[in-house]
Amino acid sequence: MSQFKDYYQFAHPTRVVAGRGMIEGVGFEFAKEGAKRPLIVTDGILLETGLVAKVEQGLADGALEPAAVFSEIAQDSSAVTVAACAEAAKEAGADSFLAVGGGSVMDTAKAANAVFTHGGSLLDYEGIYALPREDEGMGAPLAVAPLACIPTTAGTGSEVSFGAVIKDSERREKILIADFPLFPRLAILDPESTRTLPAALAAATGMDAMTHAIEGYTGPLWSPHGEAFALQALRMMRDNLPAAVEDPSNEEARGNMLVAASLAIVPGAGGTSGLGAAHSMSHPAGAMYGVPHGVANSINLPHVIRFNAAGGPEIADRYRDVAESLGAEAGGSDADVGGSLAGWVGELTTRMGLPQRLSEVGVPEEGIADLVEGAMGDGCSLTNARELVPEDFEELYRQAL
Ligand SMILES: [Fe+2]
Repeated sequence: MSQFKDYYQFAHPTRVVAGRGMIEGVGFEFAKEGAKRPLIVTDGILLETGLVAKVEQGLADGALEPAAVFSEIAQDSSAVTVAACAEAAKEAGADSFLAVGGGSVMDTAKAANAVFTHGGSLLDYEGIYALPREDEGMGAPLAVAPLACIPTTAGTGSEVSFGAVIKDSERREKILIADFPLFPRLAILDPESTRTLPAALAAATGMDAMTHAIEGYTGPLWSPHGEAFALQALRMMRDNLPAAVEDPSNEEARGNMLVAASLAIVPGAGGTSGLGAAHSMSHPAGAMYGVPHGVANSINLPHVIRFNAAGGPEIADRYRDVAESLGAEAGGSDADVGGSLAGWVGELTTRMGLPQRLSEVGVPEEGIADLVEGAMGDGCSLTNARELVPEDFEELYRQAL
């Protein structure tokens, strides 16, 4: 039986529209959010798959006119890209943003929307709750232009979260910008949008989503609202993640994974229930060595599970719930819970063909000291299930290397 928490908040203002063929209705739905001339934000690969053309058709059917298409977004978006995207929206006379893509595309659109609406640069709004507010910062946050998201991975869950993570190339760090107005107004979950997703990407992004649900559920910011989201996300991943990766023609599994990923970014205090040490480790690995976010989480997750679950019976119990929802072996002592769940995750990621070590994806041993510093400074360390000192991160990186 869980305690009654001293404090938590919960917000899920994004309207989710899920179902087959919903992309065809994007114009009709986005018009209800006040959009007339959206800037389509996407990447070069998605332009070639024909998905963007379908989205444009869907806009036209709802009598919306795309202002322009902005597609210059790399795997990790940067502050420079955000500025260019905001500028493109201004030049094209856009009144709203429609993101068609994975986390990098959606986060770019979110951050660009803040700059487009309020001017200045991304760094002016860095942090949590840093957007302009009425009454000298004490009142309601000022609205930004409408944003709709069509995620093409399942995924970061950025389509329903109020945060964006952007790379700062100069500082070799990830910048977080998060505030209530950044919740997208609309998220469209249509399995058509992941039809051409390569298996390796479906696996990596699916493991990012699983990491969100596990870290949100086991961390100190858990809440009953968040638990409902996280455990259902894990059940849906259990039933659909391997199927979606192994058989890309399985529309049912792909659709369910889109829903699972958007449930997994548990809405709690601050838009998510807080992520944990796997994310703290993955952010610097991405910023310094370009390790894709989902791949890094997939590698780091089992080590963090083992470490965290050994942190006492209350934490171990939360990992036991996770194991049960995933259908993994959850019996035995507290230490066994972490070991067996970590083993289950490792088997799953091996079966899906994901790398198992950071050294396989370009992280050198000499980099550990800088990575530890980055992980200690990462906000997700504050919301991990267990407190960490630098030596803990060093040990975790060595295990993951
Ligand atoms: Fe993530």
